Amino acid sequence: MEELVRRIQEEGNVLSEGVLKVDRFITHQVDPKLMEQIGSRFAEVFSQKNITKVVTIESSGIAPAIYTAQSLATPMIFARKEKSLTMDEELLTSSVYSFTKQLASTISISRKFLNEQDHVLIVDDFLANGQAAKGLIELCQQAGAQVEGIGIVIEKSFQTGRQLLEDMDVPVVSLARIDSLKEGEVSFKQADA
Ligand code: G4P
Ligand code: NA
Ligand code: NA
Repeated sequence: MEELVRRIQEEGNVLSEGVLKVDRFITHQVDPKLMEQIGSRFAEVFSQKNITKVVTIESSGIAPAIYTAQSLATPMIFARKEKSLTMDEELLTSSVYSFTKQLASTISISRKFLNEQDHVLIVDDFLANGQAAKGLIELCQQAGAQVEGIGIVIEKSFQTGRQLLEDMDVPVVSLARIDSLKEGEVSFKQADA
């Protein structure tokens, strides 16, 4: 997605060889116009899949996921990282290991929001090692729901996430693919859409 690549070039900051900061328009301050374009693009790409739910994880996956759900006219569900006070019912849970933080955390979605009739599109802002997306796939599998695809806003292609997800047989569509963050420069490879 050309507009996204342009914004990363103009407003992204390379923090290190592994980390890109995009807090001006994605992860902290959010640009709704850009998010709307991102949501329509995912909706377009997955339009033939009869998606019934868009699933993401809090917090910065929520913005692209809500616009995607709006565009597909489906609900959006975000997995929680902390147990909510009112989450007294049965939960789907999965353990997500963060290589960055070097710790595992439990993510959850109430069982009542996903079932075996569902065709799910997973959306997230970043794909690094793929652990968050893998956890979301596991939640969907527990519910018997079919994961039709994964829409990623920014893929760091030099990390292992994409391979992991493709090995799980889930189609991945990334709107920006970053080859390298070496020497303070973002270099891109051809995006999927
Ligand atoms: P993984 O799920 O792909 O294995 O990712 P990892 O554990 O490495 O990522 C941990 C967190 O850092 C995730 O957010 C992820 O979206 C974010 N992240 C990963 N790489 C980058 C990057 O280069 N830039 C930025 N800005 N974020 C990155 P989180 O802490 O789980 O959640 P939240 O910030 O959405 O609340
Ligand atoms: Na984030
Ligand atoms: Na995220």
